Amino acid sequence: MKENSFEIKDLTKVYEVGDENVYALKNCSISVEKGEQVAVMGPSGSGKSTLLSLIGGVIKPTEGDIFFGDINIAQFDENKLAKFRRQNIGFVFQDFRLIPEMTAKQNILLPLMLDNKKADRIYFDELCKRLAISDRLHHLPSQLSGGQKQRVAIARALITNPSLILCDEPTGNLDSKSGDEVLKLLKGVCDTDKKTLIVVTHDKDLASKLDRVIEIYDGEVKQ
Ligand SMILES: Nc1ncnc2c1ncn2[C@@H]1O[C@H](COP(=O)(O)OP(=O)(O)OP(=O)(O)O)[C@@H](O)[C@H]1O
Ligand SMILES: [Mg+2]
Repeated sequence: MKENSFEIKDLTKVYEVGDENVYALKNCSISVEKGEQVAVMGPSGSGKSTLLSLIGGVIKPTEGDIFFGDINIAQFDENKLAKFRRQNIGFVFQDFRLIPEMTAKQNILLPLMLDNKKADRIYFDELCKRLAISDRLHHLPSQLSGGQKQRVAIARALITNPSLILCDEPTGNLDSKSGDEVLKLLKGVCDTDKKTLIVVTHDKDLASKLDRVIEIYDGEVKQ
């Protein structure tokens, strides 16, 4: 039997804005297998980023469950959630979110530093080689191209060796050539290391290369 990476059940997220309630997600249920590569697609405002933030433990649901095995992170307090997130999830964002004052290498090592951990030298070297950034490690983000910045951000997401990688429009700020290159490298790393990959994207070409597409409309998963 195949094992699940995670399973969300009847997940609802309501944002309160003044007197108004915004239903960003409504009763969503999804399960994703270990090692599966899934595209999340849907119109702007449909709830894609909200879904990723919930799966990754960045925000808590209003209702519903998020299971990783027997563990339901929907019931975690902020501290437990932050620890879970650091140890199990890698995030990649459209706008890279690198620290401008830190070199590429310092950015990559930051998640380990926050947990007082040292990098496995062999894994670090291998990761940089696979993402083709070994010769850019002493550059500041401002000295890197968009594609290089995103590859550094991917290395940072992977340095803790998480089992689940969540990417929110990772090529949204890149031209199509460097976007394609970034995706090829990201997918290659996930293929080799059998990581579960969830990518929010508007790119039909990319979606067709992944195992499955989850479509979201107006806060609901299209079944
Ligand atoms: N922090 C927030 N506070 C209040 N409302 C929010 C917040 N974040 C998102 N929303 C609302 O929730 C809904 C879903 O937003 P979300 O960012 O998840 O959409 P999305 O599918 O990622 O859109 P896009 O493709 O434009 O990135 C939208 O109506 C949005 O305005
Ligand atoms: Mg979004």
